[in-house]
Amino acid sequence: MDAVDLEKVDEIIERYRGREGVLIQLLLDLQSEFHWIPREVIDHLSERLRVPTSQIYRIASFYKAINLNPVGRHMIQVCMGTACQVRGAQKVLDFTASRLNIKPEETTPDLSFSLRKVNCLGCCSMGPVLTVDDEYHGGVTLEKVEKILKKRS
Ligand code: FES
Repeated sequence: MDAVDLEKVDEIIERYRGREGVLIQLLLDLQSEFHWIPREVIDHLSERLRVPTSQIYRIASFYKAINLNPVGRHMIQVCMGTACQVRGAQKVLDFTASRLNIKPEETTPDLSFSLRKVNCLGCCSMGPVLTVDDEYHGGVTLEKVEKILKKRS
């Protein structure tokens, strides 16, 4: 990946200057800025906050929302819950994976997309369902997947 903008990291740290117990919130803000938290950022945080990196890693690994591995700019989640499977979720997943040329739980080398399987997105009657970032798409067909990917490529 490109070098991390440590100035941006400092800007985020500044938001919490003088406040205690803000490490989780800080990590979530960094996650939303960079989509994942590289080692370089953890080292920088450790230095600036005088907190051991082991402690930062422990907290970061506890929260599912925080990614310590590269994540694409767009996160595609394909629901593989029972209701969606019955309606063709496997085909949607296979097609999406082959269009992106990655497997589920991987990220494209250009960091454009990550693909994840999830269990139920809570809108089973709309199945098969996938989300792209915060957007929900129901009744997904392979044509729809094609359009969704093209729009964001
Ligand atoms: S099973 Fe897919 S949304 Fe519930």
